[in-house]
Amino acid sequence: MAKKLSRLDFQEMKIKGEQCAWVTAYDYPTASFAEAAGMDMILVGDSMGMVVFGYDGTVPVTMEQCIMMTQAARAGARNTWLIGDMPFMSYHTSVGQAIGNAGRFIKEAGADCVKLEGGVRVADKIKGIVDAGIVVMGHVGLTPQSSAALGGFRAQGRDAASARAVIEDALAVHAAGAFSVLVEGVPEEITSFLTRKLPIPVYGIGAGICDGQVQVVGDLLGMFTAFTPKFAKKYANLAEIETKAFKDYISDVKSKQYPAEEHKYHMLKGEGEALKKLFEEFG
Ligand code: KIV
Repeated sequence: MAKKLSRLDFQEMKIKGEQCAWVTAYDYPTASFAEAAGMDMILVGDSMGMVVFGYDGTVPVTMEQCIMMTQAARAGARNTWLIGDMPFMSYHTSVGQAIGNAGRFIKEAGADCVKLEGGVRVADKIKGIVDAGIVVMGHVGLTPQSSAALGGFRAQGRDAASARAVIEDALAVHAAGAFSVLVEGVPEEITSFLTRKLPIPVYGIGAGICDGQVQVVGDLLGMFTAFTPKFAKKYANLAEIETKAFKDYISDVKSKQYPAEEHKYHMLKGEGEALKKLFEEFG
């Protein structure tokens, strides 16, 4: 079994120019397949709101849902760096609230670190969590939890004023003690600058080449069909495969092709007489 990577390994990968490949997973089987494939890390993202629960966004996702899914993913991937994603309003009201909820991911769900959205405005929360001994990943640029404030799921930093805000946010995340920062929906020019400027790993989704990439598993495996972001790359079409399998199953049940002989149990040999009597007894 490969050695479980730590934050020091991710730092080393940046220094050596090695890309980090990671993905979201919210359940035992998916996490176990990701680990078996050699994924560098796994995020139990609040994108579960859309991918698993069918919400329109991530805002309704709760701490309880995140903890439960992180536990399931941990059970499937015991040997992979696992990131718990702090849901909307689980770290916004006070530093104490942020530390308490971050601690739950580590104690109750076995996460190795937590991720939270925002830069300058959450720097005090990141610092508080880091001071409590918990490893933090920042998330700047397109931050889906504040999509209403951003005017929708829109790329950020495409003009100089907005690029300044993204850069200031990423710098604030680093200054607050985060071990890495995820940059979402930002022009590659800004991400490249941040990758060179920051000593910590800069990971991207819809942000061009940096120190590594994450994708939402529903997009990568073609399981999430409600919409596909511009930056998603589909490596399989599980929606098609699953729908066909369900159709084949329905057809087999209706035509009694399933269960076939190999799927059935039969009475033990020598029980024929006793069974006959049993049926007679019950009429
Ligand atoms: O919740 C999530 O899936 C995310 C993605 C942007 C990776 O944070």
